[in-house]
Amino acid sequence: MDSVIDFLGTIPWWAWILIVLALIAIRDITQRKHTIRHNFPVIGHIRYLFESIGPEIRQYFVANNREELPFNRIERGWVYASSKNENNYEGFGTDRDIYAHQHIFVNNAMFPFRIEKDHPNAIDKTFLPCAKVMGEFNKRRKPYRPASVINVSAMSFGSLSARAVESMNKGVKIADAYHNTGEGGLSPYHCNGGDVVFHFGTGYFGVRGKDGGFSMEKMKKLVEDNPFVKAIEIKLSQGAKPGKGGVLPGSKISHEIAEIRGVEVGKTVLSPPNHSAFSTVNEMVDFIEAIAEETGLPVGIKAAIGKLDQWEELADIMVKTGKGPDFIAVDGGEGGTGAAPPSFADHVSLPWVYGFGDLYKLFKERGLTERIVFIGSGKLGFPAKAAMAFAMGADCINVAREAMMSIGCIQAQICHTNRCPSGVATQNKWLQRGIDVPLKSERLAQYFKTFRKELIEITHAAGYEHPCLFTMDDIEVNVDDHNLAKELSSTYQYNKTRVPFKSMQHLKDCMYLGGAKKK
Ligand SMILES: Cc1cc2nc3c(=O)[nH]c(=O)nc-3n(C[C@H](O)[C@H](O)[C@H](O)COP(=O)(O)O)c2cc1C
Repeated sequence: MDSVIDFLGTIPWWAWILIVLALIAIRDITQRKHTIRHNFPVIGHIRYLFESIGPEIRQYFVANNREELPFNRIERGWVYASSKNENNYEGFGTDRDIYAHQHIFVNNAMFPFRIEKDHPNAIDKTFLPCAKVMGEFNKRRKPYRPASVINVSAMSFGSLSARAVESMNKGVKIADAYHNTGEGGLSPYHCNGGDVVFHFGTGYFGVRGKDGGFSMEKMKKLVEDNPFVKAIEIKLSQGAKPGKGGVLPGSKISHEIAEIRGVEVGKTVLSPPNHSAFSTVNEMVDFIEAIAEETGLPVGIKAAIGKLDQWEELADIMVKTGKGPDFIAVDGGEGGTGAAPPSFADHVSLPWVYGFGDLYKLFKERGLTERIVFIGSGKLGFPAKAAMAFAMGADCINVAREAMMSIGCIQAQICHTNRCPSGVATQNKWLQRGIDVPLKSERLAQYFKTFRKELIEITHAAGYEHPCLFTMDDIEVNVDDHNLAKELSSTYQYNKTRVPFKSMQHLKDCMYLGGAKKK
């Protein structure tokens, strides 16, 4: 015993420090709860230290809680706390300047909506399906009512890591939501039980013929082989880079990526700005109809909004032919991306409220809104913002970056460098390894459930049963004085069409809920 003590006594103080650091490093690498500590043993603690003292430092010396972009600390904190099912409340009242220009108010009712004992929300506080059915008007063979109004927006395997995609897919399964594949094709990581919306752009990855164009044969096979694919989304553009094509460098095309995307290993592939499958609005409608006919699924389009002339043409064709997209996903100019030039991300396409308002108005004027499920994306993954989107005519919300944050993204804003420290937006094997899939899928699901619960509560406070019942007069936007504060209807100059909603029970009993057929 004495000899052991003597030996320990001979170890210099600095060696003790190294031993302690080594023990901390072992503990960090073997634990699965904190990705950052796993990926950056010992020094990862500095992030938690900075994070814990960051609010104070910012509050006293630097920025306020609401200053950072794209998502400020309060917003990120809300997603993190919600996804961990922690206390996500604020104490002492709001820290926002509610008299500020453009601040949003939801007009509450004198008496909130009353929930009876057997109401679906008395049984499940997070039950909030879409009030419309995709593909019902166009009589598609497999109509789909999304079982959740919040869903994962388009993000490819390639821009996200395999573990991030797998966590999201398993998460949407738990939360009864859907998972949009993004442009990179249907990977094995998208096939873990969650509903999938298959999305493709001008590269036709996953449904690409030998000539690089669209292959209907592959599209049909993909749908036949994967019954969890519930709808198809054709990408026209996205808010962060509308009209910009892309290059997938040969160096990034591994065997796995080549297989999933249907391209050659090591050979650079271009995604041009335009589709080769159609070049006019008429041809696009024919293309949509052909895919719907061949697959039986609802088919929609995704776009960021700027000029309206071609949209007017689309609406006119829809009136004349009775055909057209089953859903339209409108992305705001504030939308995210894996990589885009700042000139595009900052300036091309309208912010969500302007773009969506212009578009909805145009379809409403022609009596088309009931035929279309409107999906909104662009920083809408927060209950009050979603309430505003519903009041303007949105039927569902797609979230990308908020979903990333729920599985550990820390808004490092380096998705384009392959060095994402949280392992979410990187192909680096070491960095990804920190993602514990079962834990992160639970977190995504919990964020979705908390979102739905709070959106339902706001809806009830306004006297309604479902957020589809919000009207443009229920939400006001501040213009500095209450006499001047304007309802959305006078700010954006339209009223949305009333959604033919019967009751939450009716949605629960729907044979198309989650695309399932009644037994
Ligand atoms: C990492 C990443 C990858 C994305 N990939 C695609 C894509 O493949 N296709 C697409 O249409 N949009 C893509 N987007 C845009 C999102 O789907 C979404 O429209 C946009 O980020 C707005 O939602 P948010 O504000 O909730 O992030 C991507 C966004 C991110 C952050």
